[in-house]
Amino acid sequence: MCGIFGYCSYLKEKTRGEICETLCNGLSRQEYRGYDSAGFAVDGDKPGEVLYFKEVGKVAGLRKKVAESDMDTKKTFITQCSIAHTRWATHGPPSVRNCHPVRSDPDNEFCLVHNGIVTNAAELRLVLQKRGYKFESDTDTEAVAILTKYVYDSQPEKRMSFTELVRTVLMELQGSFAFVFKSRHYPNELVTARRGSPLLIGVKTDKKLKVDFVDVEFGDASASAPPTVTSPQSPSSLLAPPVPGSSSKVYRTQSRAFMSEDGIPQPIEFFIASDAAAIVEHTKRVLYLEDDDIAHISEGELHIHRLRSKEEGSQSVATTRSIETLEIEIAEIMKGKFDHFMQKEIYEQPESVVNTMRGRVNFDSHQITLGGLKAYLPIIRRGRRIVFCACGTSYHSAIATRAIFEELTEIPVSVELASDFLDRKTPIFRDDVCVFVSQSGETADTILALRYCLERGALCVGVVNTVGSTISRETHCGIHINAGPEVGVASTKAYTSQYIALLMMALQLSEDRISLLERRKQIIDGLHALPGQIKKVLDNDKNLRVLAKNVLANSRSLLIMGRGYQYATCLEGALKIKEISYMHSEGILAGELKHGPLALIDENMPVIIIMTRDSLYPKVQSAFAQITARKAQPIVLCNDDDDSVPDNAKVIRVPPTVDCLQGLLNVIPLQLLSYHLAIQNGFDVDFPRNLAKSVTTE
Ligand code: F6R
Repeated sequence: MCGIFGYCSYLKEKTRGEICETLCNGLSRQEYRGYDSAGFAVDGDKPGEVLYFKEVGKVAGLRKKVAESDMDTKKTFITQCSIAHTRWATHGPPSVRNCHPVRSDPDNEFCLVHNGIVTNAAELRLVLQKRGYKFESDTDTEAVAILTKYVYDSQPEKRMSFTELVRTVLMELQGSFAFVFKSRHYPNELVTARRGSPLLIGVKTDKKLKVDFVDVEFGDASASAPPTVTSPQSPSSLLAPPVPGSSSKVYRTQSRAFMSEDGIPQPIEFFIASDAAAIVEHTKRVLYLEDDDIAHISEGELHIHRLRSKEEGSQSVATTRSIETLEIEIAEIMKGKFDHFMQKEIYEQPESVVNTMRGRVNFDSHQITLGGLKAYLPIIRRGRRIVFCACGTSYHSAIATRAIFEELTEIPVSVELASDFLDRKTPIFRDDVCVFVSQSGETADTILALRYCLERGALCVGVVNTVGSTISRETHCGIHINAGPEVGVASTKAYTSQYIALLMMALQLSEDRISLLERRKQIIDGLHALPGQIKKVLDNDKNLRVLAKNVLANSRSLLIMGRGYQYATCLEGALKIKEISYMHSEGILAGELKHGPLALIDENMPVIIIMTRDSLYPKVQSAFAQITARKAQPIVLCNDDDDSVPDNAKVIRVPPTVDCLQGLLNVIPLQLLSYHLAIQNGFDVDFPRNLAKSVTTE
């Protein structure tokens, strides 16, 4: 949901052309987060002047606009700060007028980029309009830009620092956000802050980076005057006139200079982004901001402050932000020989599943070691139930592994859609174990569900792909699925890796059960054979392309039917088809067929029926008979060696494996089918309409 990018270079000569290129690249790498419009703001020719470039659609359009402009690309800057944004529209339709960066006024006193939703924006807008401020967009962000100007204007004699100003503004806001602020009043400075939306800062120096952490500068509440315009509970306090002579809280802090060698300033660059993918091509040294951190970049230094003082509720917050080394490689976020990220990621699965198991599964001794869970295994085993909580594809991975979890652990498992879980205010207790599954680790609904469970004292486990993400940081323990960066908006390799991670968790929890020795051995041997079997399924790609073209391309709807372990495969296959080929598709539990969906069946309704062999095979055969009796001509997804399928049926064949692993193979032809259907209909596979990869708003 929107990607933000900020770039500061200090004592480093850069042409404006180079700066624009850095900004566009930073946006391209985050385009999966939103591609309704893109824009950036860079310094103009005169002091305080800001140049904006904005375009509806993808970053390619913005690049074109920049190339066609008459700006002086050769003008050099020794020090500069610029901001950029790629948008997934929430407030106001995609248009240049709603494109970020958003400014406070025609003189560009303040401009900012925003990811998230300010839920009290309408109220703020009303208050500011009453005070005579003019709005030029429909965005919630503009209320923040104008509020910043309002606070600034209210303090004519006593100018606040940029950090104080932003802090005062943030105190007024409700909702979730990551912002980067730029201002003509604070040249060559940026302030960035987050609450609920991801944000990290990359640091690049010519010499080796000497520091490995940055102190957090906690404020001292007793040293402060009362806030002027701010009261977090009541935005309408804006209506009250500012108290003359007072300022927002001026916290006394002990600051640690981030970057200087023997007092001699050295060149440095800072890259602010929503995702590490936008930073890794410049530097691997990054720090992740926490909720309510306010980072200030100025004079080649980075200072991190807190929104509130320790006394006001920052007690449990770590006192430093460590500078970590990114583990992703630039090649991992490039398409390489593939046409699309989704295609690349489908084809990566033989390796990504190995990476999920690497160092964790011992195929000789049939043992599993999940380092991130080790200390918590006794608590999990004692738990009275396990609650999986996730959205979309991640939810399906939990559905896929629920039965084997229950079989191996004998602990009752429930699987919850995070949004519904919260809507219901589900009862959660201290002896519950709550598992949050998320590729991005930043999905707002899942994060809110996590915080809900933390408040109720449950043990919270994360199953996450993105290292350093909010869910991986806020859970007590967890498993990184190690699938590598997933860029395609439609999740593919993350699904198979989540599935395996959850399975490994169930295997580890059941390691002390003698009665399950053989079953566990069978599953672990099955995992060993899996990468080779996935390759075999991928070899069938050409046939799937033909099937998509000849049988399904002109259909308006597609049912995918199965039961038991394959129900999750049906749901996931239908989701893939919906989201990238825009064809209606529904995953149907074959056991429910007679209770309604059978009415949909006739000779024109395409149906894929998943009939790989397991204990429910006879029941699925009976569902097959019921639909063919109603003239359906189903496509049968079955095992290689199954010769009981009628000769005239269209088949998709996959190798047989252990029942609880079969879904890992069965889902791949459905991923490929959805891909080919989308391509054949001319759709943009990596950027499906109306969607974004990381859903950081509720
Ligand atoms: C579907 C898809 C989404 C995500 C869902 C959760 O292809 O990608 O349904 O699975 O938005 O996202 P994460 O796993 O990042 O929490």
